[in-house]
Order: sequence, then structure tokens, then C-alpha cells
Amino acid sequence: MANLSFLMSLLALSLSLVFAVDPSNLQDFCVANSIDQGSSTCKDPKLVEANDFYYSGLHISGNTSNSVGSKVTPVFASQLPGLNTLGISVARVDIAAWGINPPHTHPRATEIFTVLEGTVEVGFISSNPENRHFRKVLQKGDVFVFPIGLIHYQRNVGYGKVVAIAAHNSQNPGVITIGNAIFGSTHQIANEVLARAFQLDRNTINYLQSKF
Ligand SMILES: *[C@@H]1O[C@H](CO)[C@@H](O)[C@H](O)[C@H]1NC(C)=O
Repeated sequence: MANLSFLMSLLALSLSLVFAVDPSNLQDFCVANSIDQGSSTCKDPKLVEANDFYYSGLHISGNTSNSVGSKVTPVFASQLPGLNTLGISVARVDIAAWGINPPHTHPRATEIFTVLEGTVEVGFISSNPENRHFRKVLQKGDVFVFPIGLIHYQRNVGYGKVVAIAAHNSQNPGVITIGNAIFGSTHQIANEVLARAFQLDRNTINYLQSKF
């Protein structure tokens, strides 16, 4: 009897772990009606067609002519309405030689990153107080995982371009780019706050804010 109740609680625990990210489905599909990335009403199933589950374009290189030298091309629910409620999405990552994908986090998803081309340094930082930096140089065919919510980055350390595919266990993983969020928020954070937080003087903070 004691063993049975132990097994039942183990089962309940494993079920609650299964539902830890996007909720599970009550129907075969729920093609998004709106372009909103979050939850949406379902398109009438009778009107759903193959193209609702289809996206074309990840063969096209992203334009990396920008200050960081990288471009992410997302295929989230807003680009592919059939992804709605399925808890999964994908993106293409292009990084020019010595470009970076700056430190960022996905608040709602773990990311699994597969290198198709090039040589790329990747890393993520664990939570306080350890703040351990896990770092690795990847080659074509290598796969690396960034656990949900943790700050991570990529840098092209080869001579050619980097092309990678990043998959996420959310239809809408979200992105918070650390520098942009901290120094470029609309309604800036008071420079006194950032000066103390980063142990810098206010002029340096003003300069950083002007860069974002
Ligand atoms: C890439 O982006 C840059 C900067 O926005 C722009 O000048 C250039 O025309 C773009 N290149 C292509 C091929 O779209």
C-alpha cells in the first residue's frame, strides 16, 4: 500500500514535470488566427490547409551587416501559424566572421543549437551565486544546449561564416538581449541605479545608454 502511494506520487510528479513549459493540447492542432505570438484563437479546422503548417525561407542567409555581425531569422508562431499551442519553434542563426550573437536569454524556452557551417564559440552563465561560465568551441555537426532562462551568447571564431539552427521548446521563446534591455529600455533606468549596479560613473552610463 505504501509502495502504491509512493508510485502514485512519483507519477503525479513526473506528470507535473511534463507540463512545466507550454501546456499540452486538447485537439490535433490550433492554427493561430491572429499574428500574435502568444495564445490565439484557433482557425476553423475545416478551413485549415497544408500551408498553415509550412514556412519557406530558412535557406536564405540573414543579413549580418549590423553592429554585432549576426542575424537571427525566427520561425515562431507568428511566422508559422500552425506552430500555435505546439510548444516548439526554430530559428536560423547567421554570424559573419568574428561577429557575435550578443548575450541574451529566452525567458520561456530551452534552446538546442546545431552548427551547420563554421566554427563558433558558445557559452552560458549559471545562476547566482556561482555564475559559472560554461564555454565550448563548436564545429559543423556539433550540438549544444542552453538551459531555459540562462544568459548565453555565440561568437564566430573561424574565418568563414557560421550558419546554425536553434530550436526552442516554446512556440514563442521570447528574447531579452542583456545590453539592449539594461541600457536601451524605453524609459531609461535611472543612471544612478546603473552606476551603482555596474560600479561605473554616471558619465560612462550615459555613454552606454546613448549606444543603445
Ligand atoms: C544588409 O543590411 C544593410 C544595413 O541595413 C543594408 O545596407 C544592405 O543593403 C543589406 N543587404 C542586403 C543584401 O539586403
